[in-house]
Amino acid sequence: MTPPDPTDVGDMADGSDPEIVLVPLTAAFAPLASALHAQGFDDAWDADAIIRLLDVLGAFGILAYRPGDTSKNAKDQPLGFVLMQAVMDEAEINTITVAPDARRMGVGRALLDAVKERLEAAGVTRILLEVAVDNDGAIALYRQNGFSEIGRRKRYYSRPDGLKVDALVLERLI
Ligand SMILES: CC(C)(COP(=O)(O)OP(=O)(O)OC[C@H]1O[C@@H](n2cnc3c(N)ncnc32)[C@H](O)[C@@H]1OP(=O)(O)O)[C@@H](O)C(=O)NCCC(=O)NCCS
Repeated sequence: MTPPDPTDVGDMADGSDPEIVLVPLTAAFAPLASALHAQGFDDAWDADAIIRLLDVLGAFGILAYRPGDTSKNAKDQPLGFVLMQAVMDEAEINTITVAPDARRMGVGRALLDAVKERLEAAGVTRILLEVAVDNDGAIALYRQNGFSEIGRRKRYYSRPDGLKVDALVLERLI
């Protein structure tokens, strides 16, 4: 995987792990993002859906990867991505996902830190998101990142077995 615009990397916050590199998620990475999404969610988004979401006014994404060791001809490893939409001074996290074998290494935190830095620079003051009430890992990540609960949407998500699950609405003021 070769990032299309490596010069953008320096503009973004990265995590404490020097191996995590963050680049803008462009349409060229949509198939890769779709594959990552399928590992995180039952209702995987295909590449076209991701491109459409990136096309919306105020939308942007950030992709995390670990560079491969060029001396060993090793490929870059995609780690995760976040997809955002900002409108005026508010932004929403459309999705965030990290590859199962890269979890609990700070990738999610690095993505949220980069999002915050970019939104802050753009004058956004509030980030919102919805998360399933039983998604303990994601809720822990968001709370650790300064989000708090402001509401609940009843039976918001449908599981493959037909089960309806409430969503928590979380907010972070920046
Ligand atoms: C939620 C998700 C994005 C977290 O990504 P991650 O890269 O593993 O998160 P990080 O390693 O940056 O975690 C940062 C902190 O969040 C908390 N956290 C993250 N995952 C956690 C888990 N499964 N259980 C408990 N705490 C967790 C911890 O406080 C963690 O810090 P620590 O590892 O030093 O204890 C990842 O689990 C994922 O992709 N899940 C599937 C998709 C999903 O549910 N997305 C959210 C939809 S709303």
